[in-house]
Amino acid sequence: MKNIAIFASGAGSNAKKIIDHLRNSDTIKVKVILCNKPGAGVLDIAAAESIPTLLIDKEMFFRSDDYVSILQEMEIDLVVLAGFLWKVPANLVAAFPDKIINIHPALLPKFGGKGMYGHFVHEAVIAAGESETGITIHYVNDKYDDGRVILQERCNVDPTDTPAIVAKKVHALEHRWYPVIVERLLS
Ligand code: GAR
Repeated sequence: MKNIAIFASGAGSNAKKIIDHLRNSDTIKVKVILCNKPGAGVLDIAAAESIPTLLIDKEMFFRSDDYVSILQEMEIDLVVLAGFLWKVPANLVAAFPDKIINIHPALLPKFGGKGMYGHFVHEAVIAAGESETGITIHYVNDKYDDGRVILQERCNVDPTDTPAIVAKKVHALEHRWYPVIVERLLS
């Protein structure tokens, strides 16, 4: 059995798609969901699915090896960031080389970096007059949105699109591709 840890800060729609996709898997299990935001929607999803959760302690996350030990003890094979908005500390990256992946709601290296998340990304895409955007699934290193690209998928941005419309198109791509890539990386 391969074990996944999902890190999420928000609504958790990507986490939910991954859980659904792997529900009947004999080989891959969503073992734990780590969240840094009390009250985040992803915690309700985890509760409904009876998946254990850990609320991340900021001090411990950035200043100790405690989360490295926790994930190692849980025998985690892949850490999946799904709307996780903190930078992953270097000790965690070093302990899980090429075993931490992220999804970003744009075509990196465009529209990435600190502060570029959720609707801010889509607003910036429209303000820049882009005619296309998309998703990037990539390995995580200790810089924001910087690691090796695993997959990019594109969608059109029409001149009349609002950030909400772009978000909807991008989410559809995320939901279609992230679960498949997670499965592929562990097969
Ligand atoms: C997703 O669109 C993901 O790409 C984005 O947060 C959203 C989370 O949605 N991540 C980033 O912007 C990372 N820089 P979800 O909680 O519904 O899965």
